[in-house]
Amino acid sequence: MGQRHTIAVFPGDGIGVEVIREAVKVLDALAVKTGAGFDLEYGLIGGAAYDACGDPFPAESLEMALAADAVLLGAVGGPKWEGLDYGVRPERALLGLREKLNLFANLRPVNVYDELIAASPLKPEIVQGIDILIIRELTGDVYFGRPRGIRVENGRRIGVNTMVYTEEEIRRIARVAFAAARQRRKRLLSVDKANVLESAQLWRDVVTETGREYPDVELRHMYVDNCAMQLISRPAQFDVIVTTNMFGDILSDEAAMIAGSIGMLPSASLGERGGMYEPIHGAAPDIAGRDLANPLATILSVAMMLRHSLAMPREAAAVEAAVRQVLRDGYRTKDIHHEGAILVGAAAMGDAVAARLLSIG
Ligand code: IPM
Ligand code: MG
Repeated sequence: MGQRHTIAVFPGDGIGVEVIREAVKVLDALAVKTGAGFDLEYGLIGGAAYDACGDPFPAESLEMALAADAVLLGAVGGPKWEGLDYGVRPERALLGLREKLNLFANLRPVNVYDELIAASPLKPEIVQGIDILIIRELTGDVYFGRPRGIRVENGRRIGVNTMVYTEEEIRRIARVAFAAARQRRKRLLSVDKANVLESAQLWRDVVTETGREYPDVELRHMYVDNCAMQLISRPAQFDVIVTTNMFGDILSDEAAMIAGSIGMLPSASLGERGGMYEPIHGAAPDIAGRDLANPLATILSVAMMLRHSLAMPREAAAVEAAVRQVLRDGYRTKDIHHEGAILVGAAAMGDAVAARLLSIG
């Protein structure tokens, strides 16, 4: 018997439910293959939790997350809950988990599979071989800064959010980024808007200071608008990119198109301890419940969970190899489909990955 691991599973809303179902198939296959034991504890978050109990982030879900070895999450949100107060919106659950688990480092790898080069709207020679790691700060910035809110002054409404970073917050994410770059091609790009924002000037200063601890890593800085452009024009120049919460949110969606589809990008959110794993895409209410979603981002998030939280690097590599094999065999969900490939739904894609996992050595 292998070791047992407790995983808190939060499918959430929309396609979150469908992609988690497929990711669990892959975990089940892995348990059969290796004898490892995964104890899955399902909890409610997001709109589903709001509908069930009036709270998108129930205390028992937080308890479950805190007690688990890792958290696996689908997606939250949807038009049904858009009119709600910010305090009870589905997104609160996601931000609450990040905050309460202190998951300040969000790793979003962007890898282009040769098999999917045609799926990218960019030219093949631009996207071929791209391997970028975006490290997004996840518990600070304008997402959490205070004051915030909408107030009425002199009879008109004013919306306020606060972009704020402390030097400790910057230093700890910078260290994660430098350490990651050291394991890769030793090139780190820090993205900010220091030409306009003081919080970004502090970001740039502290990242530069932290860099002195890592003389073997080459550090560059870039403004976020320029980076947005260069991600499309010359993505091959990038190795590790470290940036703020807000800029990381935006740049990672953009970078997903290099990989062909946002349905391909996994993520890991890490802190001092524990970790949360989720696809970078949202709940996609427009395609929910129709077996159209691409579960590969979530399955690849499971691989990241095996590697970063469960100390199972070989199993992580096996899951990634199974995904690659399925793509090689021509299986495609709608978002990455092209002529001549085998069009499958989410369930069949999950089955195919689980089957490859069981059959490869
Ligand atoms: C992401 C998402 C979330 C974010 C939303 C759903 C709150 O876009 O994880 O990138 O903005 O962080
Ligand atoms: Mg986002």
